[in-house]
Amino acid sequence: MACNFVPRYFLLFSVALILMTNLIAHANTTQLDKKAYIIYMGELENRVSVQSLHENLLGQVITSDLALERLIHSFGKSFNGFAAMLSDEEADILSDMDEVVSVFPSQKRKLHTTRSWSFMGFPSSSPRGPFESDVIVGMLDTGIWPESESLNDAGFGQPPSKWAGTCDSNHNFTCNNKIIGARFYHLEGNISKGNSPSPRDTEGHGSHTSSTVAGRLVADASLSGLAEGTARGGVPSARLAVYKVCWDGEGCSDVDILAAFDDAIADGVDIISISIGGSYPNNYFSNSIAIGSFHAMKKGILVSSSAGNDGPGRFSLENFAPWMISVAASTIDRKFVVQVKLGNGQVYKGKAINTYGNNGTMYPLIYAANAPNTTAGFSQSSSRYCGEGTLDSKLPKGKVLICDGISDGKGAKLAGAMGAIMATNDMNDAAYEFQLPVSVLGSNDTAKILLYANMTEDPVASISSSEEAFDGAAPYVISFSSRGPNPITPNLLKPDLAAPGVDILAAWSPLNKNKPGVPYNIISGTSMACPHVSGAAAYIKSFNPTWSPAAIRSALMTTAYAMSSTKNTDAEFAYGSGHLNPLAALNPGLVYDIEEIDYIKFLCGLGYTTKNLSRITGDSSSCTSKINGTVFDLNYPSFALSITKGKPFSATYHRTVTNAGGTNSTYEASVISGSGLKVNVEPSILSFQNFWEKKSFVVKLEGETNKTMISAALVWSDGVHKVRSPIVVFNISPNK
Ligand SMILES: *[C@@H]1O[C@H](CO)[C@@H](O)[C@H](O)[C@H]1NC(C)=O
Ligand SMILES: *[C@@H]1O[C@H](CO)[C@@H](O)[C@H](O)[C@H]1NC(C)=O
Ligand SMILES: *[C@@H]1O[C@H](CO)[C@@H](O)[C@H](O)[C@H]1NC(C)=O
Ligand SMILES: *[C@@H]1O[C@H](CO)[C@@H](O)[C@H](O)[C@H]1NC(C)=O
Ligand SMILES: *[C@@H]1O[C@H](CO)[C@@H](O)[C@H](O)[C@H]1NC(C)=O
Ligand SMILES: *[C@@H]1O[C@H](CO)[C@@H](O)[C@H](O)[C@H]1NC(C)=O
Ligand SMILES: *[C@@H]1O[C@H](CO)[C@@H](O)[C@H](O)[C@H]1NC(C)=O
Ligand SMILES: *[C@@H]1O[C@H](CO)[C@@H](O)[C@H](O)[C@H]1NC(C)=O
Ligand SMILES: *[C@@H]1O[C@H](CO)[C@@H](O)[C@H](O)[C@H]1NC(C)=O
Ligand SMILES: *[C@@H]1O[C@H](CO)[C@@H](O)[C@H](O)[C@H]1NC(C)=O
Repeated sequence: MACNFVPRYFLLFSVALILMTNLIAHANTTQLDKKAYIIYMGELENRVSVQSLHENLLGQVITSDLALERLIHSFGKSFNGFAAMLSDEEADILSDMDEVVSVFPSQKRKLHTTRSWSFMGFPSSSPRGPFESDVIVGMLDTGIWPESESLNDAGFGQPPSKWAGTCDSNHNFTCNNKIIGARFYHLEGNISKGNSPSPRDTEGHGSHTSSTVAGRLVADASLSGLAEGTARGGVPSARLAVYKVCWDGEGCSDVDILAAFDDAIADGVDIISISIGGSYPNNYFSNSIAIGSFHAMKKGILVSSSAGNDGPGRFSLENFAPWMISVAASTIDRKFVVQVKLGNGQVYKGKAINTYGNNGTMYPLIYAANAPNTTAGFSQSSSRYCGEGTLDSKLPKGKVLICDGISDGKGAKLAGAMGAIMATNDMNDAAYEFQLPVSVLGSNDTAKILLYANMTEDPVASISSSEEAFDGAAPYVISFSSRGPNPITPNLLKPDLAAPGVDILAAWSPLNKNKPGVPYNIISGTSMACPHVSGAAAYIKSFNPTWSPAAIRSALMTTAYAMSSTKNTDAEFAYGSGHLNPLAALNPGLVYDIEEIDYIKFLCGLGYTTKNLSRITGDSSSCTSKINGTVFDLNYPSFALSITKGKPFSATYHRTVTNAGGTNSTYEASVISGSGLKVNVEPSILSFQNFWEKKSFVVKLEGETNKTMISAALVWSDGVHKVRSPIVVFNISPNK
């Protein structure tokens, strides 16, 4: 699963919650052996009414009058398919049918400021595209809080005429000229308590991502004074179309996600931003987000997705299909520091987002291992983590707890603690918000505090509220951001690039249960990085409305700031091409364009058969000697090669660049390489007379190495533009 606003250690709680919801739903139904399946049938065929086609297919499998009751939803606006309650045997029969491309169970998926745009060198005074108010960004998320100041439509004109969507003005939800469309999807089961049966966001995540893409300028935004400044999105004049597919406490179902893609594509959005992921790599066409993105790409819509929050392990990417853009999360130069002051005057600096602290009041210190609730059966070895219910509330009451490991702080709060020191050496590079004042410290610092607590008669400590501090090491990819290589196509580099995703301030839903009543909140995730790229993509689109999704992606990738491989040991597998640079992306010089047929060739080369490819594409395009390709021929703006350690390697890549800069320009190739790798580019000089003229070249990689990874780069330059592509040769397999 991917793209979470919740750090990974919180996910355990949300996963448990999701499992519980499912169990309850199952217990209440008589169809214990059936589950929701997606039957994907490829491109639409105009001849038939899709719904009756779907009913007919179901009827062939379910030989009773109940067939219709099993149909959950028919997709039929932008692609063909349906969702139905099926037994595994029924699903098997359907998957063998000619009309069917793939059948897979619907999974529950997860969701994955002010300062961030300026940090990237993209000030609010940047030039604005002539078509910015015509650009529509579709947000597949938790909905939106339309009353947010960031989403105010004052001064906006009517929606662009191409807009074909609607607004589900249900339950006190109305659109405006900023939020021009809004729908909600809950096709399986009842909506759980606390959720609104409308596009209204009761969670906060969707309002946060939407305002990061397209929020208007709001001065003096902050979380109780923290991160104060002007909040803004990348394209303040652009329009939003909201598709609520994720529900508080439930997650996001594949059926709802696909239904939203089906509508969004038909509604006429220009960009789709999706900060959602699933936990396991799949076949591209047994994955709702990859399927939806493919059909979006066919209609010229770029899908920007979050890479996933399952890092830092390798092969942890969750969104990585070649037709979408996959975004990693990196830091900005602001961090949130919390001081722990001890009775002996020593001060330790940890991380957390505390909007309030102990106001300098010293409270007694207590180690959680010394406060187990023994009547409930807990011992030192379990209470030391401060888990909910493990602590004897008489002891920590009114004190500062020392906890081994990080948690959401609920256990400490329930036990009456005034604050907590949490010790961890992993995943403490972002600051999170807790249920009480907390400082997250490394184990070494915590050990010193423990020593003080043991050696002192009446040990006391005080936790401060957060202070903003400068982080000179930024940007670096945060630990939780999912890493490559690409689990399905290792020779295609993913993620594509990195963008700010750590401690980002943006609009919030005042109905959020954990952080109620605040209009702006600070959260982290690749979920937050993705909308920065969606906003930058919309920015390029606002100048170049006809550019293809691949051309926009290429512009974003080849102009990205190079990132440091010493600060990011996974190098390209952490940051792809580098760090988003929105202003430079406006003027890329050359772009690597890709058309639908190029993806088809790539899929042929992957072994997809003519039969199911022609279903996916909707024409009889088949894999032939001409329509066939390898991943090395897909016109991607990056180069990856999986090799065997110590064996000579050689690979040839075909690429075509399109002149998106001035006329009469001449580009020269230069290569930055590492030892063990020889890069040859032929021809190494490309001259263009006309705008949008295309020129092809061949890149050959050769060498031999025992290293795990060699990073290199190809740069085309005409003296003005630098068109940079990363090259990565690696010997990493999934089981290492
Ligand atoms: C394509 O077809 C083959 C054989 O017909 C099948 O085994 C495979 O699973 C199909 N692939 C997809 C992605 O549906
Ligand atoms: C509609 O929602 C807004 C925002 O929460 C609230 O201020 C207003 O009172 C609501 N109106 C009704 C009739 O519920
Ligand atoms: C869903 O809601 C309906 C109407 O309130 C109720 O009759 C039904 O039992 C609910 N189903 C489940 C699975 O909770
Ligand atoms: C800290 O001080 C502020 C302002 O003086 C006050 O509003 C707040 O209640 C105090 N908090 C605590 C935990 O004492
Ligand atoms: C210990 O746990 C039990 C069972 O959860 C609870 O009833 C009791 O109040 C707890 N005791 C203290 C002192 O927290
Ligand atoms: C903790 O202290 C040990 C011993 O001084 C040192 O080797 C180690 O690098 C420290 N760890 C961190 C995370 O600073
Ligand atoms: C502090 O004392 C506890 C027992 O009360 C012990 O478990 C712990 O190891 C001691 N810590 C240090 C740093 O001495
Ligand atoms: C496509 O190319 C691959 C190898 O690159 C080959 O194995 C396959 O047979 C080709 N398919 C067709 C239809 O030519
Ligand atoms: C580009 O070069 C051609 C041929 O050399 C020349 O005719 C044309 O005027 C040049 N265009 C520009 C914009 O310089
Ligand atoms: C790789 O390691 C093997 C065995 O140690 C050695 O024989 C070989 O020369 C090394 N190759 C390179 C390119 O360093």
